[in-house]
Amino acid sequence: MSRRRKKLPQESITCEIESLSHEGRGVSQKDGKTLFVEGALPGETVTARYVNSRRSYDELAVEEVLTQHPQRIEPDCQFSKLCGGCSMQHVDLGFQINHKESVLLDHLRHFGDLKPEQVVPPLVGAGRGYRTKARLGVRYVAKRDEALVGFRERYSNFLTAIDECPILIESVGGRIPELKALIRSLSGYQRIPQIEVAAGDDVCALVIRHMDPLTEDDLQKLIAFSEQTGLAIYLQPKGPDTVAKLWPKDGQELLSYQLSDYDLTMQFHPMDFTQVNRDINRRMLAQALEWLQPQAGETILDLFCGLGNFTLPIARTAAHVVGVEGSEDMVRRGYANAELNGVSNVEFHAADLHLPLAPVNEAKHAWLRTYDKVLLDPPRSGAEELAKQMTRFGAKRIVYVSCNPATLARDAGILAAQGYKLIKAGVMDMFPHTAHVESMALFEKA
Ligand SMILES: C[S@@+](CC[C@H](N)C(=O)[O-])C[C@H]1O[C@@H](n2cnc3c(N)ncnc32)[C@H](O)[C@@H]1O
Repeated sequence: MSRRRKKLPQESITCEIESLSHEGRGVSQKDGKTLFVEGALPGETVTARYVNSRRSYDELAVEEVLTQHPQRIEPDCQFSKLCGGCSMQHVDLGFQINHKESVLLDHLRHFGDLKPEQVVPPLVGAGRGYRTKARLGVRYVAKRDEALVGFRERYSNFLTAIDECPILIESVGGRIPELKALIRSLSGYQRIPQIEVAAGDDVCALVIRHMDPLTEDDLQKLIAFSEQTGLAIYLQPKGPDTVAKLWPKDGQELLSYQLSDYDLTMQFHPMDFTQVNRDINRRMLAQALEWLQPQAGETILDLFCGLGNFTLPIARTAAHVVGVEGSEDMVRRGYANAELNGVSNVEFHAADLHLPLAPVNEAKHAWLRTYDKVLLDPPRSGAEELAKQMTRFGAKRIVYVSCNPATLARDAGILAAQGYKLIKAGVMDMFPHTAHVESMALFEKA
């Protein structure tokens, strides 16, 4: 059955904005229906046009701000009204992070019936050039005879025609026109759907997905681009395991970032998970270690450990650290990073941490044992199964790093029911100008 889209009212309307929704949209009411107004702030009067209509709410986008919030600013990005990459460019960073803190506290109260004993000050950093990891869409638009490179527009599947991206690492965000021209110059310019960006401290990589084989001429153009810009070029003809480095031909497939406070060099492949914002990552690690307080004689469990971003810093102090992660590739990367840095008091295991845990501590689940402390950093879906069984690890202290306050709050409620008290919580501005909320919570058992 085809569902016909409801016809939207064509005239713009005037809205009084009462509050801000969790994802950063102004909330208003009209004829008993809730309106979510993109780009509007509490206390403002705006004119807005309809972009979507649902049974219980309508979605609108600001056209004109008639009375403005004192923290409204001119967006740093000229494309912010159209581009779906950011949603909060119109308000200063202080307001953004305070809003994220209230989102966290609301969720904890709402879903977990919890209030942290202490709310710690947010970790904040630069609002520009912070993003070291991104998937850029590519699409050829015949009408413009141009290959667009960027993020999707809001409320559509089209790519936004951008010339720069201020939040992206400067070596890529400042080179969008060159990147568009490069793609357009390749023979298969209509069959290149995406470019992954992944930056280490010294080298930034572009992973170009191409559906058709590249010609010798294409390869020469890509190599010349790499030589001119210093960007490393990787090619991806099929799935993620087909990614191979084209240039520079230095035999170095991996990128790296330094964690100098712990005398660590962390290597990663451009397709690996890494924290998006390097500066906030370093400060997040410092805070996590301060809260966890690893001691010389302790054994610590690091769940969803990835390439060892928390595991290895903790291992600099603790007696032994066990990292558990879903991806076998990341387990290998964790071991490789441990070896590279001469860290021998760690072990890594692969396990699907969303499945119920084995009922008994069998030898084949060697990591299922007791620990002094636990750190966990799950994906957006959270760690419900683990939270339900947390007591089996016998830990006195848990540090939970979260990229989704809703699942953190749910899991915090489960932990609280097992006697873990929520001591502290706070937000970190890992993704300025977007509505993403990264946070950290400390739990302790008496
Ligand atoms: C938010 S990342 C954190 C990674 C790491 N702690 C870091 O700081 O780089 C979440 C990690 O969970 C892993 N993961 C996702 N789903 C999983 C699952 N079901 N079981 C185990 N690990 C999973 C991902 O591979 C990823 O490395």
